[in-house]
Amino acid sequence: MRIMVIGGGGREYGVTKRLSMDERVDSIYVLPGNGGMEEFAECVDIKATDMEAVCEFAGSHSIDFVVVTPDDPLAMGMADRLRAMGIPCFGPSKAAARIESSKIFSKNLMMKYNIPTAKAVSMTSLESALEYVRNNELPMVIKADGLAVGKGVFICRTRDEAEQAVRELMENKVFGASGSRILIEEFLEGVEVTVLSFTDGKTIIPMVSSMDHKTIGEGGTGANTGGMGVIAPNPFYTEAVANECMNHIFLPTIRAMEAEGCPFKGCLYFGLMITENGPKVIEYNSRFGDPEAQTVIPLLETSLLDAMMATEYGTLYKTPVVFSPKAAANIVIASGGYPGKYQKGLPISIEKTDSDTEIVHAGTKRTSDGYVTAGGRVLNVVTVADTLEKAVAKAYEQTKKVSFEGMYMRHDIGKTALDFIKKQ
Ligand SMILES: Nc1ncnc2c1ncn2[C@@H]1O[C@H](COP(=O)(O)OP(=O)(O)O)[C@@H](O)[C@H]1O
Ligand SMILES: [Mg+2]
Repeated sequence: MRIMVIGGGGREYGVTKRLSMDERVDSIYVLPGNGGMEEFAECVDIKATDMEAVCEFAGSHSIDFVVVTPDDPLAMGMADRLRAMGIPCFGPSKAAARIESSKIFSKNLMMKYNIPTAKAVSMTSLESALEYVRNNELPMVIKADGLAVGKGVFICRTRDEAEQAVRELMENKVFGASGSRILIEEFLEGVEVTVLSFTDGKTIIPMVSSMDHKTIGEGGTGANTGGMGVIAPNPFYTEAVANECMNHIFLPTIRAMEAEGCPFKGCLYFGLMITENGPKVIEYNSRFGDPEAQTVIPLLETSLLDAMMATEYGTLYKTPVVFSPKAAANIVIASGGYPGKYQKGLPISIEKTDSDTEIVHAGTKRTSDGYVTAGGRVLNVVTVADTLEKAVAKAYEQTKKVSFEGMYMRHDIGKTALDFIKKQ
């Protein structure tokens, strides 16, 4: 088979590497890929959002299956275009990708189908939004409707903060059209859990749960990032919670999408808050999360390619998808200064790791002198072990195998989870 993967971060590294190990795969192209992926795939210098060039490449290279991983090409309708060319894909249609690309679409869906989520109102004018934030309960959460590279959400504890957030989005238009409509929602308290799933629109198979660590600083302090580390499974996601999620969230969501005429195929990501009143949806993503994907995929014991193809062909009900009972930890190694300004092109040294650890490349470039940094999040150190405690300890030990000037990591990845396990 000839496979093409769209994207170029750590998530795509995790997906591509796993697919490249499948005996049925003869060639694997990544558009655009990154330095580290050149070891097992052919990187092609085409941007993930360059729809014309991507489709042209797929057509002219007799590609059998395309994995569309990032949010923006999905929101643009890349999977529809490829399917129209007769090329099967892993990834939802443009209509189904609205579950992520419009937070108002997904909120309306959840309200219509009684899927538990934070109460919310949507606003389309600056005046009515300002009026609302002046007169309703704090704290409140203000969200841009559209994609905003993970920066369109404001947790507001004072009226001033809320007013400022509304003005940033609707008046100063910091995210352009993404903020012309906004959502104002109730603040939920609890523990966050991520659950990725495979779905063909009728059957849904959840993957192992995980916990991301979003802020740059330890203990949840400082600016938000794309994610600084992940542990899986998430101990707060108990069997009871999992059952509740299946019955009240996962199945109702895929049925709702089908009822709305836009069945979801691909990876559906559930961002959940486990509250006093049970699990609630914070958001959906229409694709694998980064860095969750590259943490969870190593725990998948069955074929990733089969699971992906089953989402396209509607055969997930008869496809085995089995996860290992082990645990995984992922420590993100970032450039000094990230998520603010940082330097690129710094030489990276990487020593051989133990066999239970993988160095995932997220933002690297290969030069004639070796790898250099090429992004904010540069590498991920991912370890699988029998217990979460061992996975975290081993991953931190293995971070000593990589170095570059100014490298930064958080030292408390997994701490919340391990403290919780110890208290049980
Ligand atoms: N209603 C809410 N109550 C409390 N925290 C929230 C709420 N909505 C979002 N958050 C916090 O903000 C983060 C980002 O919000 P999310 O809806 O996931 O948007 P995105 O990932 O697109 O930026 C969440 O991971 C969560 O920590
Ligand atoms: Mg999110």
